[in-house]
Amino acid sequence: MKHKKIIELLNEMTIEEKIGQMIQITGDIFLSDDTKSMLTGPLKDLHLSKEKIYHVGSVLNIVGAERVKKVQDTYLSNSRLKIPLLFMDDIINGYKIAFPIPIAQGCSWNTQAIKEMTEISSMESSIAGANVNFSPMVDLSRDARWGRVMESIGGEDPLLGEIYAKTMVKAYQGKKLSEIGKIASCVKHIAGYGAVEAGRDYNTVDMSEREFRQYYLPAYKSAIEAGAEMIMTSFNILNGIPSTVNKWLIQEVIRKELGFKGIIISDYNAIEETIAHGYSENEREAARNAINAGVDIDMMSSIYANHLKDLCLENQEIENKVNKSVLRILTLKNKLGLFENPYGNANEIKEKTYVMNATNLEKAKKLTQETFVLLKNNNHVLPLQKNRKIALIGPYIDNIGITGSWSMFSDRTKNDTILDMFKEKIGIQVLYAKGCEILRQEEINKILSADGLPMVHVENESQKEKEMIISAIQVAKKADVILLALGEHYRQSGEACSRSNIALPENQIELINELYKLSKPMILILFNGRPIELSSIEKKLDAILEVWFPGTTGAKAITEMLLGEENPSGKLTMSFPQNVGQCPVYYNHYNTGRPHHNNLRYVSRYQDIPTESFYPFGYGLSYCNFKYTELYLNKHIMNGNETITVTVKIENQSDYAGYEVVQLYIQDLYGSVVRPVKELKAFKKEYFRPHEIKYIHFDIDMHMLKFWNNKLEFIAENGEFKLFVGGDSEKVLEEKFELTY
Ligand code: BGC
Repeated sequence: MKHKKIIELLNEMTIEEKIGQMIQITGDIFLSDDTKSMLTGPLKDLHLSKEKIYHVGSVLNIVGAERVKKVQDTYLSNSRLKIPLLFMDDIINGYKIAFPIPIAQGCSWNTQAIKEMTEISSMESSIAGANVNFSPMVDLSRDARWGRVMESIGGEDPLLGEIYAKTMVKAYQGKKLSEIGKIASCVKHIAGYGAVEAGRDYNTVDMSEREFRQYYLPAYKSAIEAGAEMIMTSFNILNGIPSTVNKWLIQEVIRKELGFKGIIISDYNAIEETIAHGYSENEREAARNAINAGVDIDMMSSIYANHLKDLCLENQEIENKVNKSVLRILTLKNKLGLFENPYGNANEIKEKTYVMNATNLEKAKKLTQETFVLLKNNNHVLPLQKNRKIALIGPYIDNIGITGSWSMFSDRTKNDTILDMFKEKIGIQVLYAKGCEILRQEEINKILSADGLPMVHVENESQKEKEMIISAIQVAKKADVILLALGEHYRQSGEACSRSNIALPENQIELINELYKLSKPMILILFNGRPIELSSIEKKLDAILEVWFPGTTGAKAITEMLLGEENPSGKLTMSFPQNVGQCPVYYNHYNTGRPHHNNLRYVSRYQDIPTESFYPFGYGLSYCNFKYTELYLNKHIMNGNETITVTVKIENQSDYAGYEVVQLYIQDLYGSVVRPVKELKAFKKEYFRPHEIKYIHFDIDMHMLKFWNNKLEFIAENGEFKLFVGGDSEKVLEEKFELTY
């Protein structure tokens, strides 16, 4: 449709119809045949009348071509102007094929892999009728207590966030949104949501503008520059003002400075929550604050529905704002081609042939393997030798629930289990015992009750627990090696899953302790959505393979990795803490005036634990052994806009082929504001044949040396820099250079 026509359409709309476009509700309402029931449940809570329902502009989390078409048909047949609905969804780590959770995807350090996963998700969900995806989530995350770190694609690093944000937005949107397989990307949650105090979800965020610009803003900025069509605001306050009604953030930074032209949507009920925050005095005030800040769509609250009209009647300026918002919404609908074809790409036939197809499942398995991080491998206990007797123990051995908390649409029927895979691969009778449940019922009940679900009582739970451990010991005794599959419950990480204890559940630790007494090599496959506190159990384990929540093809990917058909290459994007008391712990911290280099008393340290993280950012082993030597700079002085070429020699001292992520860090030694001890500036994921030697090059330029100073200027300062190259952020070779210009 031509732009002129859109304007004509806008002019034809009543104020109610305009405001309707700015409201998002759940789509189930349109699937009900019973009109009476439509006004109960969520709709009643939203205080929306039946009439207003047929004005709404978008719905949430309705997918499946048939369902989407049905909703669209019902809606359009009851709507005067027949403006199609937008279907927005949370396809966080895939649609029917669940890919590894975002934190895991980030650990691949492979933008091509992330691009391919995103393209498959995008294609699957687009033919299932999705128009917009609430992804990527790029909130910088330093605190493992926060349950949503599992959704953060870049983890604790701004550069990774920046690179991945751009990759994902482009992969979702392609060159033209109306093309098959493309959906609009909604980057979230702006802003600073990852910095919630004490890692408690929805909590306060307070930070200097300089800190915000330096670490938190770059990933959002990158998504906007890559053309993201939408932005979702965050639940938190940012320096005293809820992000959702933060004029400075939305008007000055997002719209003016970053030039964002797309749609801004609130998070779920976030406009109404500005009242609980103690910012808006009442609902009408909340509506005024949100429209004045520039929120185009109210997700799942009744604020715009019930108050925006009065505000428009009272003030022409507000009506002008409404017109602008509606124009943005209509423009996106037009870009998606919905005026020509309201079903978008929804197509039941393609859905049947494309979704979960064998080629994509095979691809998914390969991509999944890139996300695993080998944390420990003493005496090369991995890969497993097939002739050794292996005892498979743990609640994740025979479990298809390995897709993570945001995979509500995934098709679990195709998920294999590690048990199935071992039976298939090893072809002999496999030794297996469950050993324990993932969580004790009491813990599960806490989760269920918060969800309003009935609690479950287990008779004689502790007796049953003992019996399970005894059978596990009996099985383990028959084996040469114990392979444990343990981890978090999938509802222990994700939204509203903050935890003050980030160790493995107690019953699982007990199982480890009992099996350890057998003095057999023990390998842990770890399923989780956040960095886990491992210090109390790590010494008892010979190897640890971090697999996160690996998704549909996870079991197969894990089995092949353990058997040495594939080689781990993932690297951590979040530091693992020594214990929860160390949170937040991150590699790019400041030095302090009293850094902890020795055992002195009055230095910045803990009395009871080391200052360093347990596993650092960038860390991850391989079956290969990579040796870094001969770090060389072609010059040691950078004049202005010149580049310095850095070269490092890397030797694969092993009989395995594999990938290594070569990482380059820089420290600005003295600045007008203090600079972190290290910052990731570049990386390359390189393939090595057995015993291959490679010289890897990086170019460094002045842009990499820039930072936000106290006057909020993004500049590089003359002076000395340290440069580090290595396979993680701690084990590095060092050099120095100087910037003069
Ligand atoms: C979450 C968002 C999500 C939205 C819609 C909210 O609770 O914070 O990340 O996209 O719900 O489901």
